[in-house]
Amino acid sequence: MGWSRDKHPATFVGALLLLGIGGTGAVAKQPSKFPPAEERGEQLYLENCWHCHGKRGLADGPLAEAGPIAAPALAGRVPSDHEPWMTAIHRGKGTMPAFAPVMDRTAVRAVLTWLEALDPVTGEGPSIAATEAKKAAEQAEAKAEKARQVERSGKEASQTEAGANAASDAAASSTAASSAKPPPAEASKEKRP
Ligand code: HEC
Repeated sequence: MGWSRDKHPATFVGALLLLGIGGTGAVAKQPSKFPPAEERGEQLYLENCWHCHGKRGLADGPLAEAGPIAAPALAGRVPSDHEPWMTAIHRGKGTMPAFAPVMDRTAVRAVLTWLEALDPVTGEGPSIAATEAKKAAEQAEAKAEKARQVERSGKEASQTEAGANAASDAAASSTAASSAKPPPAEASKEKRP
């Protein structure tokens, strides 16, 4: 099948071009590797605080729910003067341990920045999980679009090849028709697998 050997390089080159262009665009759109303060704050909070204060700072952490630890709600309640909270977090307060050994001022400030952005009733606001889900959905959509583009270019290429193939078939049969001697039956059988 001579035509199918020709078809593949054309499709392959088309796909390479599309991937090259699409790839450059995707790289340019990549978000910064360094998370913004809120994302860093949520990360630190989920490592150190949520068991008592709740995943979204609504005082519903498993340790608080269990009874003995009355950890207050923090979401959307950060005072405009950060110092009292900075001190409570660094030195500890009541049954809350001191976090100075594990979090410097910059780290605590990141946590407070994230807590400030949360709704005090629902706890809604910046969320690593939501950001990651959105990112995954966008990547899946970009991949699907790329696949559609490659498929389209493949179809175009095979249509062009089919046209060229039909033309060469026509040329071949006209050559055969003008030939004085028809090809032997054995030979034509071999040509059709
Ligand atoms: C072991 C449970 C526990 C952990 C873990 C914990 N807390 Fe607390 N937190 C408490 C309790 C209980 C209180 C109330 C203390 C009191 O007033 O006696 C509190 C109080 C606070 C306060 C003071 C609020 C106010 O109005 O004075 C802040 C701010 C706070 N926590 C933030 C955090 C942050 C940020 C983290 C993580 C770095 C954290 N907590 C980790 C239990 C905890």
